[in-house]
Amino acid sequence: MARLEGKRAIITGAGSGIGRASAIAFAAEGARILVVDRDEAAAAETAARIGEQAVALAADAGCEDQVRGMVAAAVDRWGGLDILYANAGVGGGLVPFLEQSVELWQETLRVNLIGPFLAIKHAAPHMVAAGRGAIVCTASVAGLRANAAGSPYSASKAGVISLVQTAANALHGTGVRVNAICPGLIETGMTRPMFEAARARGSEGRIGQVNPTLRAGAPEEIAAMALFLASDEASYVTGQAIAVDGGLSSTLPFKRQYP
Ligand SMILES: NC(=O)c1ccc[n+]([C@@H]2O[C@H](COP(=O)([O-])OP(=O)(O)OC[C@H]3O[C@@H](n4cnc5c(N)ncnc54)[C@H](O)[C@@H]3O)[C@@H](O)[C@H]2O)c1
Repeated sequence: MARLEGKRAIITGAGSGIGRASAIAFAAEGARILVVDRDEAAAAETAARIGEQAVALAADAGCEDQVRGMVAAAVDRWGGLDILYANAGVGGGLVPFLEQSVELWQETLRVNLIGPFLAIKHAAPHMVAAGRGAIVCTASVAGLRANAAGSPYSASKAGVISLVQTAANALHGTGVRVNAICPGLIETGMTRPMFEAARARGSEGRIGQVNPTLRAGAPEEIAAMALFLASDEASYVTGQAIAVDGGLSSTLPFKRQYP
């Protein structure tokens, strides 16, 4: 039997990168997917690549009315919801610390942290009523350590790590699990400018050199963890933030001495 046979899933930020790879991976394992993205054409493209198991919906993952509507769309269509992957996020740019505005912080936290909170708030009651459900959020290694991104982004992702801990415990005894993934550097729409700049400089061989795998990751490598956490294989995993980062977060700053 396929790993997500018969499951009904919402994935936000599924118009690109990690979300799209996850939608494709979940569907390949038998799930039906509500492909949510604020970019309507991108969501439609993901759904078209999957076919009849997927439906696209344009929604802003940081807006409560739209998140409520997103959950209602899935429940109305399928009669319930088994999996929520709150993955949508924004990078927040690399504005120098002392020049960061309140507006930049508010928008980054709205999408990256309040968004997953709203998704859990509106999806979990349906899962609690069914006595089972799996919620996955995308955090980041930036939520574990400094220097992977700007301060608002890092704080938002540290918040997601805390959110999955508090939500998993708030939902104790309900059968609903809540976990996060902390990706390292993955080539997606969010990071593409950095990869393209490195290729233009001829320095792409240096990308990922500070982690033990000596490379960046692919969206499919994050989707593989999302699939595991969303599946019944992870039935005893909750309240965790799991790094999928080529070992980046396992190290201190260092100079490599041996091959
Ligand atoms: N790429 C990396 O290296 C990396 C590392 C760690 C964490 N992440 C996280 O992974 C998640 C997915 O990002 P990605 O790397 O695939 O980037 P991406 O830009 O390729 O995909 C993000 C998608 O989210 C959508 N989105 C943004 N804001 C939204 C909103 N308010 N409502 C609905 N959709 C919205 C975008 O339109 C886009 O399609 C994000 O949470 C990101 O912070 C990425």
